[in-house]
Amino acid sequence: MKLNYNIVLIGFMGTGKSTISAHLSRCFDMETVDMDQVIAEKEGMSISKIFETYGEEYFRNAETNLLKELQSRKNVVISCGGGTPLREENVKEMKKNGKVVLLTAKPETIFERVKDNHDRPLLENNKSVEFIEELMLKRMDKYMAAADIIIETDNKSKQEICDELINAL
Ligand code: S3P
Repeated sequence: MKLNYNIVLIGFMGTGKSTISAHLSRCFDMETVDMDQVIAEKEGMSISKIFETYGEEYFRNAETNLLKELQSRKNVVISCGGGTPLREENVKEMKKNGKVVLLTAKPETIFERVKDNHDRPLLENNKSVEFIEELMLKRMDKYMAAADIIIETDNKSKQEICDELINAL
């Protein structure tokens, strides 16, 4: 498979964007760009440290700049941060050369996936199903508006999710 566009994975924290991106890239020999990882490498510090040192706005600007850079590429799986599609400008950039795929999961599933991780500043002192549900609800309209394809991930293997995604392209 060789696409002349990019696949852009969006969704709340813990919906499996990085996992699915890595699996797609293995199965279809596509390059992957994990936005959080690239930004952390460029800045030479973890996402938590970037938030702490420069604030969220700085991180959000870095996301916008990176999306603009990625427009010139194709056949890349881009896994966004959970907040990337909240800026309208970012969604415009994604859609210029990408199919936007929204991964979803229930708050309970997300809680199980993120509870032992400490690299998500927005959840660090808020690890509860209730908080996750509330933040997810606040964001859902924007996620849905950005999505070309929507895939539920609860109780599915990464292979099943990738198959569903490829069939929907
Ligand atoms: C964020 C999600 C994180 C990361 C940052 C902010 C968000 O990415 O970009 O902590 O606003 O939802 P993941 O979705 O990969 O955890």
